[in-house]
Amino acid sequence: MIKSVTEQSIEDAAEILRGGGLVGMPTETVYGLAANALNGRAVAKIFEAKSRPSFNPLIIHIPTIEEAEKYVEINEAAQKLAHSFWPGPLTIVLPRREDCEISELASAGLPTLAVRIPAHPAAQKLLKACGLPLAAPSANKSGTLSPTTPEHVQKSLGDKVDMILAAGKSEVGLESTIIDLSTDTPVLLRLGGIPRQEIEDVLEREIALSTTDDHSPKAPGMLLKHYAPSIPIRTNAIDLNPGEALLAFGSDKFMGIKGGGAAKDLPEHSRANLSEEQDLYEAASNLFKMLHDLDRPEHTAIAVMAVPETGIGAAINDRLKRAAS
Ligand code: TXA
Ligand code: MG
Repeated sequence: MIKSVTEQSIEDAAEILRGGGLVGMPTETVYGLAANALNGRAVAKIFEAKSRPSFNPLIIHIPTIEEAEKYVEINEAAQKLAHSFWPGPLTIVLPRREDCEISELASAGLPTLAVRIPAHPAAQKLLKACGLPLAAPSANKSGTLSPTTPEHVQKSLGDKVDMILAAGKSEVGLESTIIDLSTDTPVLLRLGGIPRQEIEDVLEREIALSTTDDHSPKAPGMLLKHYAPSIPIRTNAIDLNPGEALLAFGSDKFMGIKGGGAAKDLPEHSRANLSEEQDLYEAASNLFKMLHDLDRPEHTAIAVMAVPETGIGAAINDRLKRAAS
């Protein structure tokens, strides 16, 4: 349902977001597919709606720098760029704070988080009305063009979003520039709305363009760095080897350990369940958190029970497969 921006429609959209739904959100770059970034199930719906074959980390939209400080470590370079370009089409990747409450699914298990303060007045109003950080990739199906009008969103995702907040054509029409400031050497991950030269002028140094990013045409097939646990992953497990941790999906009541013993008697730090009810949204929202929790040197591997390939299950399996190889 498309609604043009009014005080009422902003409040309706905020209500949908607070309830864990999806909203097509206007920004000055492109329309975003927004969900409450604190709610892993809501974030899982984004991946499902976009039919993303895997979990890429998402950009977190916030209304102010003070709000950003709750989630990421803001360093000097970030201060400078924020001062010059926020609100606006610049996304900055920074270390997640220890106490960061953003869903680990939103940053795909990475220790960093991409944040942006959008300049569009409707996005600003929506962020303030809902009082939540919003995870929002471009509001289009994976592999299709980014949407710059509400009609584009309707055509690509009309049946997947709870509401589209319409504010005409996106002014910039190009995604945000992404800069990684999580290490001492700044790296551009994506060229976009803010020119490279302007960023170099503010930071008073040359900045390399990443060649390992999946947006760079110079390096086809080279993917963004992905989180993987430091111990092996074994998929489609039907029983456990001694020393393995268990990541269950559904009941593990009857799962045995080779040589004797039952999975259900493992200590708490060796056993987690993606979803007892076999709910794939819940499983997706728990995936990275639980892999982190089970990734301990006393385990020889993490044995993961089979997850069905349907819907978002395909993305879960994709990530497990990559971590396993
Ligand atoms: O203009 C934009 O940035 C739009 C509007 C809606 O804000 N959003 C957008 O999101 O283009 P999306 O999901 O299409 O692109 C986000 C990209 C990811 O594919 C990834 O390359 C990068 O941002 N990214 C996000 N978090 C990251 C992280 N922690 N480290 C490295 N790259 C990250
Ligand atoms: Mg995109």
